Amino acid sequence: MMTMTLLLAASCDLRSEVRMDQRTETMQGHADAALTALAAFESEDLEGVRRAGKAVSESPPWAAFPPEARRFLEATRASGLALSKVDDWARAATALGGLADSCGSCHAEQGVVPSAPAGSTTAIELWLAVALRDDARWNQASRGADRLASTDWQARSTALGAELGLIRASGRSEWIGQGLGRHMESHFAAATDAVWFLALGDLDGVRERAPLLQHGPHPGLPEDLHPLVGPLSDAAGKLAHVTSVADGAPKSVALAERCAACHKQSGAIGTLTVEDVRLPEMDPVGDHVMAPYLLWVGLLVPSDAAWQEGSRFLRLPPELPEGAQTHTGTYEALATRASEVKAQERGALFAELIQTCVPCHTAGDVDVDSGRNSPIRH
Ligand code: HEC
Ligand code: HEC
Ligand code: HEC
Repeated sequence: MMTMTLLLAASCDLRSEVRMDQRTETMQGHADAALTALAAFESEDLEGVRRAGKAVSESPPWAAFPPEARRFLEATRASGLALSKVDDWARAATALGGLADSCGSCHAEQGVVPSAPAGSTTAIELWLAVALRDDARWNQASRGADRLASTDWQARSTALGAELGLIRASGRSEWIGQGLGRHMESHFAAATDAVWFLALGDLDGVRERAPLLQHGPHPGLPEDLHPLVGPLSDAAGKLAHVTSVADGAPKSVALAERCAACHKQSGAIGTLTVEDVRLPEMDPVGDHVMAPYLLWVGLLVPSDAAWQEGSRFLRLPPELPEGAQTHTGTYEALATRASEVKAQERGALFAELIQTCVPCHTAGDVDVDSGRNSPIRH
């Protein structure tokens, strides 16, 4: 198709076949450099992004393309140059969207929809869709995200820049092209991990997870809820600067309250029933771990059922080794209080509870690997 046009245009040129090869090489060089930039972006290597941008800006050989294609190559090189100068993630995201668009403009003009192997992430697929002007690819990669449902390529490349911006704001590239439900699941994982690390005394783990909740509104979030995003981000920021378990305990409760405030205002989650949250009793250790997890869910949804189920598990304490016996009293007292406490005092009780974990584990010489023991996954 387009290859044909180029071939015809260049047919009087005896070296056309050589040029064809060179052109393919140029393309592969372009595509490689661009994909390298994306990979660097996803792995948070800003210097790598700039380096790859520079490679695009220096891409030879011009002679292989017919004169009318030259302005598109110039535009692509200019996009590469812009990318080589970015000094923050937001600019890098926009520049990557711009680069895709300049590749795409030439492909559109030349009437080609080049093929390329499937990208390993949604971000790469979306990027390639714009760069190759591949409709099917775009529709496939943007499935489930209403905000990407446009047929206009310029709008798509702008949306792509915004999506890429999300990667860095959130720290989670899997949010790209995803709906609000999945975004919230990421929230849940980040927040729960952070609090879990805190409970088990792994402050570095908290410092790593809490910042994942510091970002602007997700594009799928209804406008009227946007004002509730800043407070969540602030609460997460405070937790990220945790200095001790005692310092972090009330901060993690404040975080859960920010989640709950928005869920209440939006009516997004609704009321969970006991059946929704009921979990089978396991071995004593499993039950022991489930208790704080369910109480936490009870706070952030917020859910009476989850809180009550958590208190039930809390009343099934683990068998305590010698050294830890002195901690039994505190633990049992908390377990009793948890089932009786008023809704507005649950946060304070939770903050107390998560300060009991480390002292008892230490006294009982219990080896708790916070990463391995996360209730979410890992
Ligand atoms: C000057 C116009 C032009 C620009 C700019 C351009 N391309 Fe292309 N591209 C083409 C043409 C024409 C083809 C198909 C024919 C060919 O290989 O000569 C092609 C083919 C491709 C292919 C398929 C290569 C293969 O091995 O078959 C990929 C991948 C590609 N382009 C990626 C990109 C990327 C990524 C960019 C931007 C960084 C880009 N192109 C910029 C014109 C352009
Ligand atoms: C600014 C508002 C807002 C904030 C803040 C918020 N959420 Fe949500 N959340 C929502 C909305 C809206 C939904 C419904 C999403 C949907 O359409 O499925 C939701 C749904 C959820 C869900 C259910 C997801 C699913 O599978 O559908 C979970 C879990 C969740 N949120 C966790 C959290 C956690 C944890 C936090 C705090 C760290 C939090 N949310 C903060 C608005 C918010
Ligand atoms: C009164 C003492 C005590 C308190 C308080 C306590 N634990 Fe434990 N915990 C234990 C003991 C004992 C074990 C080891 C049980 C075993 O291996 O049989 C344990 C084991 C664990 C484990 C490891 C489970 C596994 O898979 O090996 C985790 C995770 C854990 N506790 C989390 C918590 C959290 C979170 C808190 C605070 C909300 C907490 N614990 C509070 C005594 C306590």
